[in-house]
Amino acid sequence: MRISVTQRCNLDCFYCHKEGQNPSKKEMTPSEIEKIIAVGDKIGIKKLKLTGGEPLLREDICEIVQRASDHMKDISMTTNGILLDRYAADLKGVGLRRVNVSFDTLDSEKYKIITGRDRLSQAVAGVNAAVANGLTPVKLNMVVMKGINDDEIKEMIRFAGEKNVILQLIELEMFDGEFYERYHYDLSPIVAELEERAVRIKERKLHHRRKYFIEDSEVEVVKPMHNTAFCRNCTRIRVTSDGKLKPCLLRNDNLIDMVEHIRNGASDGELIKTFKKAISLREPFWM
Ligand code: 5AD
Repeated sequence: MRISVTQRCNLDCFYCHKEGQNPSKKEMTPSEIEKIIAVGDKIGIKKLKLTGGEPLLREDICEIVQRASDHMKDISMTTNGILLDRYAADLKGVGLRRVNVSFDTLDSEKYKIITGRDRLSQAVAGVNAAVANGLTPVKLNMVVMKGINDDEIKEMIRFAGEKNVILQLIELEMFDGEFYERYHYDLSPIVAELEERAVRIKERKLHHRRKYFIEDSEVEVVKPMHNTAFCRNCTRIRVTSDGKLKPCLLRNDNLIDMVEHIRNGASDGELIKTFKKAISLREPFWM
């Protein structure tokens, strides 16, 4: 289960898919978020990822993690890392297990172009803090884009090895034809090279993502576009920051409002039914 806790962000990445959510300023309270997690736990969900926007912009993020940890053991977060050196120790203390840090480039000029802000050094500090505080394994999310950072893959693999973190190479997901045409970088040749160079290859259950072990680095490839195996092996359910269950990143026509039921005092039985309904609406986007 992947819960967006806010749509607010302190960066402005030009490619951001905003977790596929329509704009909304409404946010859930920690207790509403906890209720959804508790229901997810009851129906057998084992893993939780907190996302945004930028989750660390919520002043009550530690309370959210703390409440979540009463129901789920495997809690992780996707963050841009800017505020991580401030929060890493506290987050670890309340039960966060690990983080993914959005990290597309090692070049501060490019970082500015991609995110609209001159904050590369804070992001690096965030990665360091995550490692130092044991929010591990830390993963770096690198969205590979043609003409932007596609020349940095080798350097990023080396950097990940040096920092002892996992590099995730992510293919751009986007439907705007012109944008996609311009920036989409096909990871297939990179995959072919990784297949050849890896000393060991592992396939994850989720999305059948492959992990490559190369020298001192671990590289995972996320290649969702037009990938039927990716969808077939997806087990995700999302929750939007305004409290709707979202069966697929790429669809917005099958959301189910969960927080409304909670606010109306629905019983646990009713909430479980609502949750199961949303799960029944999951279907592959690419098939
Ligand atoms: N395509 C692929 N990945 C994206 N992310 C954000 N927007 C896109 C996109 N258009 C990834 C970033 C971030 C994670 C939450 O989603 O890497 O870390």
